[in-house]
Amino acid sequence: MAESREKVSVLISQAELEKRIKELAQEINRDYEGKDLLLIGVLKGSFMFLADLLRYLDPKTAVDFMGTSSYGASTQSSGEVRITKDLEHSPAGRHVLLVEDIVDTGLTLRYLVDTLRARQPASLKICALLDKPARRRVRIGLDYYGFIIPNAFVVGYGLDYQERYRGLPYVGVLEETGEAESTAGRKDASGSKE
Ligand code: PRP
Repeated sequence: MAESREKVSVLISQAELEKRIKELAQEINRDYEGKDLLLIGVLKGSFMFLADLLRYLDPKTAVDFMGTSSYGASTQSSGEVRITKDLEHSPAGRHVLLVEDIVDTGLTLRYLVDTLRARQPASLKICALLDKPARRRVRIGLDYYGFIIPNAFVVGYGLDYQERYRGLPYVGVLEETGEAESTAGRKDASGSKE
């Protein structure tokens, strides 16, 4: 097995995340005052962000999850996304806030928004912790976002590299030195999906 040395440097600290997430929650609470809100988390990456956001939202806020996966590099251009886990309850007539960890090309969100709109929610908005506009391939408007980040490969706080690093309490940049065992996976080290 070839030697792979990975180093994670902090991009957004735990304290910065907490402060910004509290601000986002205040904004969301204001905007949805008097309405029953349904958060839909996009698995897996959003689980930590969603959990922390939820702590500061109106206690009546409901939660559901969807899982998605792409078909692979050849279908990225078509934006083909597969649902690996669907909602438990219909979002029809509900005020839905879609919660993502990161918007990269925007293809996942484009697909989810189109899919959910067809199910006729009362309203549909998007909240993403991280926005990486440098790699956007489709136009998608974010109603709430935490941080705009550079085109670096980020891990931590729910985001993985080959399923590792999701548990870091901060968002970091992954730097790989030495001969990697494999750079295939969710995204390669330049941030491109493979
Ligand atoms: C990541 C992230 C978003 C998507 C964003 O998920 O959580 O859902 O990629 O990329 P896009 O804007 O280019 O579509 P991923 O497919 O890596 O799965 P995971 O959340 O289970 O790690």
